[in-house]
Amino acid sequence: MPTQRELFYQHLAQTTPFPLALEIERAEGIYLYDKTGKQYMDLISGIAVSNVGHCNPEVVKAIREQSEKYLHLMVYGEYVQSPQVELATLLCSVLPPKLNSVYFTNSGAEAIEGAMKLAKRHTGRTEIIAFKDAYHGSTQGALSVMGNEKLKQAYRPLLPDCKILDINSHPSPFGEGQGVRLITEKTACVIIETIQGEAGVREFSKEFLQSLRKRCDETGTLLILDEIQCAFGRTGKLFAFEHYGIEPDILCLAKSLGGGMPLGAFVAPQEIMQSFTHNPMLGHITTFGGHPVCCAAGLAALKFLLREKHLIEAATEKGELIKQLLSHPAIKEVRGKGLLLAAEFNDFETNKTIIDRCIQQGVITDWFLFCDNSMRIAPPLTITITELMKACDVIVAAIASITKQSQN
Ligand SMILES: Cc1ncc(COP(=O)(O)O)c(C=O)c1O
Repeated sequence: MPTQRELFYQHLAQTTPFPLALEIERAEGIYLYDKTGKQYMDLISGIAVSNVGHCNPEVVKAIREQSEKYLHLMVYGEYVQSPQVELATLLCSVLPPKLNSVYFTNSGAEAIEGAMKLAKRHTGRTEIIAFKDAYHGSTQGALSVMGNEKLKQAYRPLLPDCKILDINSHPSPFGEGQGVRLITEKTACVIIETIQGEAGVREFSKEFLQSLRKRCDETGTLLILDEIQCAFGRTGKLFAFEHYGIEPDILCLAKSLGGGMPLGAFVAPQEIMQSFTHNPMLGHITTFGGHPVCCAAGLAALKFLLREKHLIEAATEKGELIKQLLSHPAIKEVRGKGLLLAAEFNDFETNKTIIDRCIQQGVITDWFLFCDNSMRIAPPLTITITELMKACDVIVAAIASITKQSQN
């Protein structure tokens, strides 16, 4: 009899030659447990998904209850399904009033696709502006606005009329007066992660984000904020844009939106979203987007987070504590906001060796797609201070043992 691991390698498509291949049997809170009962602390939340913890009991209860009522009924947008209606209503109640119409999708990439299509339909323009090192997903529209050539070049030609800007280039397209003038009356939308995730947690300045907002207003360009990774309390605010005094025209959400179930959304003012309903109608179609069980899970997760608001406030404090505790000469910098953090080492080899050692010691971390010398630290918001201190001890001990080895 082949083992599960052998069958995994035989029959499951792989995306790298070296998958982690942990055999997880169950998960609870911040912990995963493998077949042998070994406990792993999940310091990355399944990549920013499990903000309210794995198998949050309220989410599991909502899934169970909804699955006993109905599963899929009909393609998106035709029937009144209460999990969708309740989640959209609650989401709109915590967003700026103009963001009052929610389109549910299956994934983050689909939310990005929908948002970019909506911007083209609403403005009648085609140009899309995105940023260096941006990650918006892996479908071909999302790849077109990816700010990293290496992962996208094999798929060219992609969408025409997409420009990738580097705000740090010299002379900066956004520097000294000329600035955001690359955004013009031809630009349908600017798409940007409020805080870049896969770039290795990179923040834009408040001034820059505000200048972007202003220029979009001047040119009738829609500003799409991708908060697929940074929303739902992770940065110390429910939505990351709250830190910067700006509001998007379209907001993209996914990952933790579903409380552990696959769910994405793009949210826009109703008068913009209306563009999908006519001339021609059916502007974006999805069979499973907004699946009732996923929406029930998302509703329970959002209710949990809004009730346990202290977890959002504590994310800032916990993040600061991690920054203090991760003190070692091999760490060049720990950057980020709240519990969306990156610890930077000299190079990928050092980072990877430390990550592997941490996993052996029961602490799961990872690197970033476009920043492989940095370690991802983004635990569930439910992590306690004691657990967090333990995790940091394991990381620092791993760094110490590895740097000692390399000195010998
Ligand atoms: C900022 C951001 N946007 C979009 C996506 C794509 O989401 P999905 O993997 O659900 O398609 C991701 C996924 O990592 C992301 O981090």
